[in-house]
Order: sequence, then structure tokens, then C-alpha cells
Amino acid sequence: MKSDSGAVTGADLRHIAIIMDGNGRWARKRGLARIKGHSAAEKSIHDAVEVCGELGVSYLTLYAFSTENWSRPKAEVNFIMKLLSRFISRNIDDLDRKNVKLRTTGRLTDIPDGPRRDLELAMERTSGNTGLNLILALSYGGRAELRDAFVEIAGSIASGDIVLSDVTEELISAHLYNSDVPDPDVIIRTSGEQRLSNFLLWQSAYSELVFTPILWPDFHAEQLRNALEEYRTRKRRFGGLE
Ligand code: IPE
Ligand code: IPE
Ligand code: MG
Repeated sequence: MKSDSGAVTGADLRHIAIIMDGNGRWARKRGLARIKGHSAAEKSIHDAVEVCGELGVSYLTLYAFSTENWSRPKAEVNFIMKLLSRFISRNIDDLDRKNVKLRTTGRLTDIPDGPRRDLELAMERTSGNTGLNLILALSYGGRAELRDAFVEIAGSIASGDIVLSDVTEELISAHLYNSDVPDPDVIIRTSGEQRLSNFLLWQSAYSELVFTPILWPDFHAEQLRNALEEYRTRKRRFGGLE
């Protein structure tokens, strides 16, 4: 459904997923250390939550740290983990006031104790909220998620709880990290790269992909609205005919 202004509304846009890329290049362009780019990302996250609230979108998934990002220099990884705690302490009151439910996807057990505890407390505090589901993808990899699902399913077969013919696409979906979350309608990637980098491999089967050259720290409310306008021009057919 479109509003009178033609803007995309929550009715035809339940789940936005964003690959927040380009922090390092943003900093380098300014002669700064890469980590300054990660710090500058906070405003863009704030704006994305704001726009989702305006549009009545139910789910916003932000790819914050991939399973492959552990291969970066230790100092950068440590900085990003500390930033997680800082992000929570600076934003949790505002998120809670906005009725946002904070969630995560990925292997949370990989996250160091301090930031993991902060995250868990923030998730607990906002667990009763009924507005936007803000899902941070942390130590997330699409292949790791599928591997974990397949292991669980194989376990259920081995124990006799299910048989091979019970393994449907729906059953696989139900074993993913957040089985209640609908597939993303649109996946936006900033910074000009045109790939998924192991993000939501199963769930992206019919997502619209929007790529923009804008670096994540420069991607504010207006830029997100423009990306969603691009989404609005797409015709989703899901393999059928119009
Ligand atoms: C995205 O920005 C943030 C993370 C992957 C953690 P990058 O750090 O990948 O920035 P570029 O792509 O090197 O510019
Ligand atoms: C993807 O960005 C992961 C996140 C944005 C968290 P990367 O910068 O890690 O991806 P590649 O290495 O360019 O594919
Ligand atoms: Mg990158």
C-alpha cells in the first residue's frame, strides 16, 4: 500500500535490512584512522531507526559485524566491541522511549563478556516493547546460520523426533536464528560494493537489493528515504506473472 504522497509505508515494507559498509573509507577520506568511521556510524543508525518508526516498519536488521570480520586487526575488532557497549549506553533510553525492541542475530557467544552483558540487559529491558524490532547482526554469517540449522535438524532426525520427509523449506526457516522474523523486503548496501558478504543468504531469496555508493556514515534519513524510493519502483514477482 502506498500513502497519498506515494511514499513507501509499513504495509508493503515490513523488514528492511542494511549492510552498513564504508566506515573505514569514510575515515580514510578525511585522513582519519579507520575506527573514527565506526564511531561516526552512530548517527546513521539513529536515523535508520527514526525513518523506520515514521514508516511503521516492523523489523530493521543492521549488519554490524560478520563472522569474517574477526579476521581484522585485533585493535579494530576490540574497538568495535567497545563501541557496542557505548552505543547501548548512549542510546538505550531513547530506544526504549521509542518502544523499540532490541534483538540480535548471530553467534552472540562469540562477543566478549562485557558488551554481551550490556546487550543482554538492553534486550531484557526492551523485551516487552511492541514497536520496531531493531535486530543487530553480530558475529553473523549466513553460512554459519544455515550450518547451525542443519545440525539441529540432523539431530532431530537422529533422535527420531522427525523423519527426512519432514524437512521442508518451512522447517529449515523455523530453525534459523530468528524464525519469527519475515524475510527482508529490501536489503540496502552502502559504500558501492555490490555483494551480500554472507548476509541473510537464505532469507534474501526474493529480497530487492538496493546498492548505493554513499558511505555508511554519510547515509542519513534523506539517503535512506531515497533508497526506499528506489525500492518502491521495483516490481516484485516472486517467480509469478504480474
Ligand atoms: C563496515 O565498514 C563496518 C564493518 C564491517 C564492521 P568497513 O569497516 O567495512 O569500512 P570499509 O568497507 O573498509 O570502508
Ligand atoms: C560486510 O562488510 C559486513 C558488515 C557491514 C558488517 P565487509 O566490509 O566486511 O564486507 P567485504 O569484506 O567488503 O565483503
Ligand atoms: Mg567494508
